[in-house]
Amino acid sequence: MQRVGLVGWRGMVGSVLVNRMQNEGDFELCEATFFSTSGAGRAAPSQSVEPKLLDAYDLAALAKQDVIVTAQGGDYTTAVYARLRSSGWTGYWIDAAKTLRMQEDAVIILDPVNGPLIEAALGRGIRNFIGGNCTVSCMLMAIGGLFQHDLIEWLSCATYQAASGGGAQHMRELLHQFGSIHSAVASQLADPASAILDIDRLVLERQHAMTGEEVAQFGVPLAGNLIPWIDADLGNGTSREEWKGGAETNKILGRGAASQPGAVPIDSTCVRIGAMRCHSQNLTIKLRRDVPLDELVEMIAGSTPWTRLIGNQVGPTVAGLTPAAVTGTMDIPIGRVRKLAMGPEYLGAFTVGDQLLWGAAEPLRRMLRRVLEG
Ligand code: HSE
Repeated sequence: MQRVGLVGWRGMVGSVLVNRMQNEGDFELCEATFFSTSGAGRAAPSQSVEPKLLDAYDLAALAKQDVIVTAQGGDYTTAVYARLRSSGWTGYWIDAAKTLRMQEDAVIILDPVNGPLIEAALGRGIRNFIGGNCTVSCMLMAIGGLFQHDLIEWLSCATYQAASGGGAQHMRELLHQFGSIHSAVASQLADPASAILDIDRLVLERQHAMTGEEVAQFGVPLAGNLIPWIDADLGNGTSREEWKGGAETNKILGRGAASQPGAVPIDSTCVRIGAMRCHSQNLTIKLRRDVPLDELVEMIAGSTPWTRLIGNQVGPTVAGLTPAAVTGTMDIPIGRVRKLAMGPEYLGAFTVGDQLLWGAAEPLRRMLRRVLEG
């Protein structure tokens, strides 16, 4: 049995990953060892072959693993990966962090979409398999079929990204903000005769009065608000999150760098909204040619076994195409599919995905499974 070292398993992505591994019986196929950056020596979870947690900075202990799966984050990868490789370790490094994603010797993994590319990389001896950005992975799970038919000339994404993309503390902060706003207007809300514009004024006053502590994660209130910027400012009018849309999508599809002739131009506007853990995206697609809508719908529905087409009517849309409907499921629903007023080569669609499942943990889990099954 192959030895698998797990790092960052206690965090949000790591917990979802371990839970999925447990549900899918992955621990029965490997000898798992749990590593910790801060709690070495403490009791390990029941799935561990070692009774105690090992030190995640112990290169000798890491080097004994055939596979390392980390959801610990980019700082950990930066601190450990290169030293571990320099020590001669040739195992599989499966990572959720962006640190290694764009390296030549790394593949961005999303096997329902780029399985053949992953197989080819395995055949070439590639050993670094990195999960993609969550919006990119969820978007490709939704419309991979259109890329497969090479129908997309360009793509514009407007994202509606959940608090979880920032981390666990961001989710807590959002809920504290909702609670605080509610408290500010609770008595007026309880009175059916109160004026809604008075309530609205009190909400705004509460939002404007939030302290540094109340907005420590997002910088400004997110509850009752939105923030049209995610991640670093690249200084060219776009954010790093927006840059990933083009760079990672084209790498996943094996189309090379986003600037190269074979690449599909992708522009995104990435927006944080007050959802908990599902990222949603509105897609505007310029097709290479006019294709009948029913054929496009069929191609989209066939993107992956998890892609679920939602009819473009009000009932199915409001019931099935929302973060609250999708959270915790493996489904990637896509709806609002329609030709746009700009012309028959323009297609609109809207998709939602759990950013902790297909957006983070699941591609890693499936890569591990692929390695374990040989
Ligand atoms: N960068 C994403 C976000 C998180 O902030 O929503 C996962 O890739």
